[in-house]
Amino acid sequence: MTALAGKRIVLGVSGGIAAYKAVEVCRRLVEGGAHVVPVLTRGATRFVGRTTFDALASEPVRTSLFDEDDPIPHTTLGQTADCVIVAPATARVIGAYAAGISSDLLTATLIATRAPVVICPAMHTEMWEHPAVIDNIATLVQRGVHIVGPESGRLAGGDEGAGRLSSPADIAAAVVRVLGVGGHRGDMAELSVVVTAGGTREPIDPVRFIGNRSSGKQGYAFADEAASRGAKVTIVTTVDRPAPRGATVEMVDTAEEMAAATARAASAADVVVMAAAVADFRPVDSAEVKLKKRDGVPAIQLEPTVDILASLGATKTAGQILVGFAAETCDVAGNAAAKLNGKSADYIVANDVSADNAGFAHDTNEVLVLASDGRVHPVGLRSKRQVAKAVLDLVVADRRARADIQENS
Ligand code: CTP
Repeated sequence: MTALAGKRIVLGVSGGIAAYKAVEVCRRLVEGGAHVVPVLTRGATRFVGRTTFDALASEPVRTSLFDEDDPIPHTTLGQTADCVIVAPATARVIGAYAAGISSDLLTATLIATRAPVVICPAMHTEMWEHPAVIDNIATLVQRGVHIVGPESGRLAGGDEGAGRLSSPADIAAAVVRVLGVGGHRGDMAELSVVVTAGGTREPIDPVRFIGNRSSGKQGYAFADEAASRGAKVTIVTTVDRPAPRGATVEMVDTAEEMAAATARAASAADVVVMAAAVADFRPVDSAEVKLKKRDGVPAIQLEPTVDILASLGATKTAGQILVGFAAETCDVAGNAAAKLNGKSADYIVANDVSADNAGFAHDTNEVLVLASDGRVHPVGLRSKRQVAKAVLDLVVADRRARADIQENS
């Protein structure tokens, strides 16, 4: 590919075992036509030799803020870059970048650039799931930084879990997407995508509600992925999480509010992803004042809520693609197939919410994607962002296939 011809890319490499994979990232970017400037942290040089990058990249490796030829190498690098990538990005580099601390050439370049930045985290699961790292990533996402991965799999020392660097091919493809080159302005450019996220809350009284364990992470991962591919995103959500730059966020509480907001947004949407966990029942009456213990155990009568996905399925506009979810604890495929047909969805993303490392509140998920053409696509345990990517890849391919059929008919 020469999709990156003429692009100047700073490839930052920080000190983790995955630094050896940065060599392959470098090779792919150079093969893609990019001018690649490698910037290694001191830690990185302990994992990979400078000579390797010197041989593969377009310029010799840089490691120091104090360069004999250029008194301000970080601003030169930052200002002239079309894109800065960090692969692998350690917790330290992510933290420094989020906090605006420039302690070495790489972090100074990150802060000195206005070019798009792609961060590819790699670290042990315990570190990736640490609240500080979660907050730092959320801050970067909110600022429009593109995060690629990590994936789940084998880690250093034989451990398994989330934190593995994404594949060099995925990282190179993400750079192409971010730069909107090679004919891609993002393969979802011009598409309007509505995503629902979180669990609805159905009030019993002013302080109590019937709710569920949904964290909204999977819905927001869809929003992030769709936005990074150029889509115009609307998130209808019960949880306030950092949203991708440019997204419209509608906060709701109950199934009824979510149904109204989603129906409004969906009328002009190309793709609707119903990732929210919507209550199926709500109290018939919600008390206006707090129910008192002294009045005894209340009998709460429930009534069904509207099934938002099924109503969207019944009123689907031509060409619109509807993605639903199925949260199951048994017979995942059978129950999901019933939901696919019963709700006229195009895809159902089914997961066993009782499985380890999958479903509610986890950062990872393992799903089966059932398509209305009868195909079933298993997506093994990976980050929720990677799950979103796998599903949106199917959606994009489906839209292309439908457009081809229309063109040829
Ligand atoms: N859904 C919806 N409106 C509801 C209930 C569910 O739009 N009132 C959507 C969910 O967002 C999800 C899909 O329907 O995309 C399946 O939700 P799930 O909770 O798995 O199944 P239910 O249809 O509620 O059926 P059950 O609880 O019996 O499994």
